[in-house]
Amino acid sequence: MSDPKKLFIKTYGCQMNVYDSERMAEALGGQGYVETQSVEDADMILLNTCHIREKAAEKVYSELGRFKGLKAAKPDLKIGVAGCVAQAEGEEIMRRQPLVDLVVGPQSYHRLPELEAKARAGEKALDTDFPEEDKFEKLKSRPKAKRGPTAFLTVQEGCDKFCAFCVVPYTRGAEVSRPADRILREANELVERGVREITLLGQNVNAYHGAGPNGDMTLAGLIWELDKIDGLERIRFTTSHPNDMSDDLIEAHGTCAKLMPYLHLPVQAGSDKILKRMNRSHTAESYLRLIERIRAARPDILMSGDFIVGFPEETEADFQATLDLVEEVRYGYAYSFKYSTRPGTPAAERAQVDPAEADDRLQRLQAVITRHQREIQDSMVGREVSVLFEKPGRLPGQMVGKSEYLHAVHVQDPGLEAGQIARVRIVASGPNSLAGELA
Ligand code: 5AD
Ligand code: SF4
Repeated sequence: MSDPKKLFIKTYGCQMNVYDSERMAEALGGQGYVETQSVEDADMILLNTCHIREKAAEKVYSELGRFKGLKAAKPDLKIGVAGCVAQAEGEEIMRRQPLVDLVVGPQSYHRLPELEAKARAGEKALDTDFPEEDKFEKLKSRPKAKRGPTAFLTVQEGCDKFCAFCVVPYTRGAEVSRPADRILREANELVERGVREITLLGQNVNAYHGAGPNGDMTLAGLIWELDKIDGLERIRFTTSHPNDMSDDLIEAHGTCAKLMPYLHLPVQAGSDKILKRMNRSHTAESYLRLIERIRAARPDILMSGDFIVGFPEETEADFQATLDLVEEVRYGYAYSFKYSTRPGTPAAERAQVDPAEADDRLQRLQAVITRHQREIQDSMVGREVSVLFEKPGRLPGQMVGKSEYLHAVHVQDPGLEAGQIARVRIVASGPNSLAGELA
């Protein structure tokens, strides 16, 4: 028997890409590949790219350029580009970088085995279609081997919101939900393999409306079905749009014990003028009232969000409105970005904010966010939390896991094992994690 071929995957961007990379590796497992962490050993290199911010395509080309030596030394080496840059650039990638053998867009991963065979046969393989079929259903069924206690599970893809700055509706296509029975089957299989926490993924996950036994199911409906799975202890979901935060989902945050008290709910900006120009179709006020209702259902919920500063036409007063909103919400985590133009999106055509001004705003926003983040993390000291342990820490006898609020927690105790959930009293708050003792 010949040695297995080696696959090196580098994943950029969001958690959906992490999930996609896992499924692609499994699919290529069926073609005789095993994963390697060393690019030098690889028979196939796959870049799973992200197009959301900055000069994504340029970064991919420069990364590809670095594989020239490897390919010269090993002519059989196949190089592939997947993800949103593959979707956006398509054939252009092979034209600009002839060492690329394979280009596959996010909606065509189930065709990867055929594409790989084509590339192996020395042909250029390209697929950036938006086919009708459920790619995850067509992908090889998932292996049965034991795995870590947390997993991502994509339930919804694409987006119909068309925020004026965003490429997702173009690279990932229209909003599509997977049928509930397939998701539940996959969740059950994950739990059989040792998974205790599942994070449901979607670009607009709370707009989920997959086919269920009695018509379309909402995300809350799906969460309640997952709640019934013995051995699954924790459910999370990301990323949500404020306008799709339905009553049943808000209520589930108060009543479903397995649904963790953490919610990522991007607002992007605090000025109604900018929100309108972003095509967000909500206001700062409606967002704040929504958070009030969520906090009424689950008072200890930890909020997280995304922000863009320096969006075209943003004035200092608009930016102040963002700072005011942040002060009011007090996020436990928040991700802030300087606006970057994405060709083909409506905002790309507009007058841009002075980059130095945008840098300055980003720094000021991040200072406020970091202060809140710190204060909220420090306020955990003395409290008891539940921790799902994931892996050994850096010190001997130490385990690291996540609290229900997604804070990393270290505990020194030789008896702990990955996959265990324990009550922990927090004793200290460090730069990026908490330290605790078994309660
Ligand atoms: N420029 C800067 N940030 C962006 N995001 C999306 N598109 C852009 C862009 N063109 C941010 C948004 C989104 C997060 C995933 O990335 O805040 O919520
Ligand atoms: Fe992009 Fe807006 Fe859709 Fe989020 S909701 S994926 S920011 S278009």
